[in-house]
Amino acid sequence: MAGLLEHPGYDEERLKRAAEQLPCREVQAGMLLSLMGEPHQYCYPSIFIYGHRASGKSHVINVLMKELELPHATLSCVECVSVALLFEQVLRSFFGCDVASLLPRSPSLTDFVRIYRQQSPARQTRYIVMEKAELLRDADANLLPALLRLQELVEDNVTVILLSEIVWDTFRPNTGCFEPLLLHFPDYSKVELQQILSQDRHPSFSAELYSFYVSVLLGVFYSVCRDLRELRHLAALNFSKFCEPLAEGKVKETDTHKLWKNIEPHLKKAMQTVYLREVSSLQWEQMQQMEEETGALKGLSAHTHVELPFYSKFLLIAAYLASYNPARTDKRFFLKHHGKIKKTNFLKKNEKTTNHLLGPKPFPLDRLLAIFYSVVDGRVAPTASIFSQISSLVTLQLLAQVSHDDQLDSPKYKCAVSLEFICNISRTVNFDIMKYLYDFL
Ligand SMILES: Nc1ncnc2c1ncn2[C@@H]1O[C@H](COP(=O)(O)OP(=O)(O)OP(=O)(O)O)[C@@H](O)[C@H]1O
Ligand SMILES: [Mg+2]
Repeated sequence: MAGLLEHPGYDEERLKRAAEQLPCREVQAGMLLSLMGEPHQYCYPSIFIYGHRASGKSHVINVLMKELELPHATLSCVECVSVALLFEQVLRSFFGCDVASLLPRSPSLTDFVRIYRQQSPARQTRYIVMEKAELLRDADANLLPALLRLQELVEDNVTVILLSEIVWDTFRPNTGCFEPLLLHFPDYSKVELQQILSQDRHPSFSAELYSFYVSVLLGVFYSVCRDLRELRHLAALNFSKFCEPLAEGKVKETDTHKLWKNIEPHLKKAMQTVYLREVSSLQWEQMQQMEEETGALKGLSAHTHVELPFYSKFLLIAAYLASYNPARTDKRFFLKHHGKIKKTNFLKKNEKTTNHLLGPKPFPLDRLLAIFYSVVDGRVAPTASIFSQISSLVTLQLLAQVSHDDQLDSPKYKCAVSLEFICNISRTVNFDIMKYLYDFL
């Protein structure tokens, strides 16, 4: 299944082992190998690799460095808070602690270059891999340009590989500098994610079964989350649940329909926490266990309220009402003295009960605020923090901002939580939301 990596100068067995660990990254790995050339040849002075989170940048480099046993120093720009640390780590990785200790107390670039040049020259290319390279932009202005042409400064076969989520254009200093070679890592497609995740299978289960599990998982989560790390975490988290009917002997491995029916509701429930992460994987497992023990199916949403501030809960409730009630009914629900509204007018036959089936509708900010002030009622609301709380709800993906380019000044929102979720939230603030939902009157 794994593609081939080929390059003269490297051991074939090793290349094969590397290729096996790099599914869906054969092209990028092959490209890197051809940039690197044979070990004793000089490589291009600097390579800039960019791509979104979890697109395999570090993975590809690590596998190549490790499997091909290339001399390298990997450092994270997050950890190297000072250039002194950076220089020290490079010297230590290449030449050992003794050489690293030659650096003066607060070393300059010149000190580093001088000490490096005193060492024996490389017999094969040395690599300096810098993770989170975007942080170099905040460092001393000379550092980045120097790293990009370090090969020339130290007169040695050394190459600097920068890894970043950000494009090169935002790095280039306005004084200009040596241009690195750019290599883009595209996002993984759904098919690729399927292939990569399927490799994690447990040896006691068949490849077909695990691959089926991954496809169910992707079917549920792919629309909201494409992050390989997150998906892998979710896959590990929910697999035991998936296997339950198998372990109990209720279902056979080949009965995929039954397996799917068992796991899908469970996954949908887990979806509410994809990015919230208000529970750690451990907590989530404990919660599931507790539910099973008590037999009460509370659902994850019952726990989520804990994190929200008091008024945010009311904002969310107001948003839910605005999303699911027709605007025309606001008067009846929220105006204290609304006069006479004919019942027959109010309850239009077809409109009723369908709002929840149709999904949330967008609403403008002023409608949200009007409903909010009405539902908080006597519980004096602080106006100042309301807007920041709305944007927090958007960040948490409990509200979705539906923006139109031509309507910058009047943002519209949609409520993105389920009925069960909002009922639980309402319960915590003693608000009987059912009385205010048009569909359930
Ligand atoms: N092609 C792949 N095959 C197997 N595992 C992969 C592959 N690509 C990435 N991974 C795994 O996914 C995780 C994230 O990948 P990696 O750390 O390489 O991402 P990254 O591009 O460096 O992201 P970041 O910008 O956040 O550092 C790692 O655990 C890695 O092992
Ligand atoms: Mg990385």
